[in-house]
Amino acid sequence: MFARNAVRTLTQTRQFSSSSARGINVTVLGAGGGIGQPLSLLLKLDPHVKNLNLYDIRGAPGVAADVSHIDAASEVKGFAADKLDEALDGAEVIVVPAGVPRKPGMTRDDLFATNASVLRDLATTAARVAPKANLLIITNPVNSLVPIASRVYEKAGVYDPRRIFGVSTLDVVRATRFLAGLTGTDPADTPVTVVGGHSGDTIVPLFSQSPSAKAILGDKEKYEALVHRVQFGGDEVVQAKAGAGSATLSMAYAGAKFANALFRGISGEKGVITPSFVRSNLYEAQGVEYIASNIELGANGVEKIHPIGPITAREEELLQVAITGLKQNIEKGYKFIE
Ligand code: NAD
Ligand code: LMR
Repeated sequence: MFARNAVRTLTQTRQFSSSSARGINVTVLGAGGGIGQPLSLLLKLDPHVKNLNLYDIRGAPGVAADVSHIDAASEVKGFAADKLDEALDGAEVIVVPAGVPRKPGMTRDDLFATNASVLRDLATTAARVAPKANLLIITNPVNSLVPIASRVYEKAGVYDPRRIFGVSTLDVVRATRFLAGLTGTDPADTPVTVVGGHSGDTIVPLFSQSPSAKAILGDKEKYEALVHRVQFGGDEVVQAKAGAGSATLSMAYAGAKFANALFRGISGEKGVITPSFVRSNLYEAQGVEYIASNIELGANGVEKIHPIGPITAREEELLQVAITGLKQNIEKGYKFIE
């Protein structure tokens, strides 16, 4: 009874709204990890999910047994290390938090050496077994791994740029929460669009597009501190966890929130718009093939890429810094896969 009420409460919030749920098959790769476990829990609570397959090289059957007892409608199955094909069979949405997290003193780029291979191998199987599924990449460094996955799908002859997403929702969640903390407003009323990429100065919050940020924009010191906090919010958590990893709970929330937006788009809801790091022509002229911006989600994944819109001179400066960083990150991904 309690769990059912809890599910109802969650689905009634804007983050986990149910629209016309149609029963989607979801696979989580890396389900046994710090993000994977709470993310699997939240996906179990999402009324759009019909089948939830949990895969990891370690511990997924245990997580699945645990989550499967929750009295929500979806069916949960766990898959051991040698059962990747089975875990992906029939998947429509694949969420990937598999790979190593940062420790203090590391950048996200320092994870490349390990996580690029993890992502390449998982994407290779996903492209073969579930080529039409939407692939949601949480694993870092997102800015390089989305290009890697895209090349893997291209090489397999199944690339659809509308279906590969770098999950940058945690930047949106942070910007929204930090702004609300300063203005004393409800975060639900003060959404912030965040564009660029997902690491340090490639993260560009567009506070000028949030009416409630007006007072902050007029206070240079406060504004710069807020932008810095959004860009380096991940480091705040890595330092506080002191070697025990990076953001897991807020990321699970952000991952489930983005997945819910996609589920609603797939289910036919119109006007589902949120930022994500995707293949984009917005800055192609400057040599950047992937960038986060507001996108509209629909039956085929990305239905529309929204323009960045009006921004301040300072935001334009931040965006140009981001573009320089993104070019290097994307190039690094391409080099690896070639
Ligand atoms: P974790 O170490 O707690 O969990 C990772 C899990 O991946 C482990 O259970 C591990 O067994 C599994 N794994 C490793 N290789 C695998 C493979 N080949 N196939 C399947 N599973 C595999 O780490 P975490 O804290 O959950 O973080 C995971 C990743 O998410 C990291 O790369 C981290 O940097 C990233 N992250 C991204 C964001 C974002 O905003 N996009 C936010 C937080 C963390
Ligand atoms: C985050 O933003 O919290 C994640 O990308 C994890 C990290 O390494 O900071």
